[in-house]
Amino acid sequence: MIKTNNIFKLRKYLQDFTLAEESDFFNPNSQHQTQIEFLNYNQQSYPKFINEFWTSRQRQATALHEISYRACFKPQLPHFFIRLLTESGEVVYDPFAGRGTTVLEAALLNRNIIANDINPISRILYAARLQVPKLSKLEQRLAEIPFEKTASANIDLSMFFHPDTEAEIVSLKNYLAERQQNGKEDLLDRWLRMIATNRLTGHSTGFFSVYSLPPNQAISPQSQRKINIKRNQQPEYRNTRALILKKSKSLLKNLFPATIQQLNEIGQRALFLTQDARFTDKIADQSVRLTVTSPPFLNVVQYANDNWLRCWFNGIQSEEVAHQLTMAKSLEEWLQVMAQVFTELYRITQKDGWLAFEVGEVRRGKIKLEEEIVPLGLQARFECVAILINQQTFTKTANIWGVANNAKGTNTNRIVIFRK
Ligand SMILES: C[S@@+](CC[C@H](N)C(=O)[O-])C[C@H]1O[C@@H](n2cnc3c(N)ncnc32)[C@H](O)[C@@H]1O
Repeated sequence: MIKTNNIFKLRKYLQDFTLAEESDFFNPNSQHQTQIEFLNYNQQSYPKFINEFWTSRQRQATALHEISYRACFKPQLPHFFIRLLTESGEVVYDPFAGRGTTVLEAALLNRNIIANDINPISRILYAARLQVPKLSKLEQRLAEIPFEKTASANIDLSMFFHPDTEAEIVSLKNYLAERQQNGKEDLLDRWLRMIATNRLTGHSTGFFSVYSLPPNQAISPQSQRKINIKRNQQPEYRNTRALILKKSKSLLKNLFPATIQQLNEIGQRALFLTQDARFTDKIADQSVRLTVTSPPFLNVVQYANDNWLRCWFNGIQSEEVAHQLTMAKSLEEWLQVMAQVFTELYRITQKDGWLAFEVGEVRRGKIKLEEEIVPLGLQARFECVAILINQQTFTKTANIWGVANNAKGTNTNRIVIFRK
């Protein structure tokens, strides 16, 4: 267990970092040496540490994370900060939770959690995995749900589903809606809702739909029709019960009973919110030890469009969600929203607590959001500890072709670390 409770120790740790020392992150190809640059702002110098601090290949994350969501980060990212900056039982928060990567990883590491995301689909995806059911009970529940052979959707979904598959999906949708309305929804229902939401459309026979885009990408009925014509395909029947069980087994495959119990206890104590990250008054002042998050980036990702079918299945008005999501059209607008988010994060962070704020490379690295974020944190009265850039080492192919590893702008995570 690494415990870094002071800014200077943390900077030294990042400077001297070698992946080799971290047995579960060991990567023999890593360049090991941290490169250091500086960002100068307002006559102060802030160190930028560049290295391969974690890799996706070396340590397989728990399969429970494997629910797709647009612009999600890898579990290795929150794992790195949670282990470094918190101890068991401390509170970890994500104001832009998405599929819940931060909070799930925190719960797996025995931390308490708070999650928030303005998109209600987010909570459907993470909360069920913090109340894990027994597979045998799930199988029994699935068998009990009445499937109406003639049920059909109130919108045309024939480009995605065989009529028999559609009947099963609509039956499940109606059953879940009724259970929710009657206040009878339990952890089995929530799990089924999460899996079915994830299985609706995708690019393999593991999904309910005919071949489509991967499940985290937007696909309109019109585009799906075009795909069907191009591939000369028609939706075939899918056994939704069997697919739901298969995916459930796969998510749970490497979880020990003790871990499931830990997740369920932490899930029960957790606070889950569906609010604008700027206004989270249900979170007490100074209650969070560490926030690890990645905000919506300018208007590059249309979360509401991505989620129209998921919203339909869950009886959520996707236009309303679209309206509430932060979709800044310009950098200035984005910075204004984020400034308010920082003020709120400062309020809820404990004295000596931490904030790891991840931003992607936007417009092929032309806009360095991490540098824009530093003044916002300082204005909110945080101390800026460092900028950490996680960069994957050169792959063989990239070397052969002489391609700079980051030319495509997809290989780095840029995280600004603040302290209160
Ligand atoms: C980059 S994604 C986060 C992904 C997450 N790190 C994960 O691993 O799944 C940004 C999230 O911010 C949410 N969001 C957008 N505007 C918001 C706002 N004003 N308040 C709270 N959440 C918001 C979106 O719904 C989206 O889930």
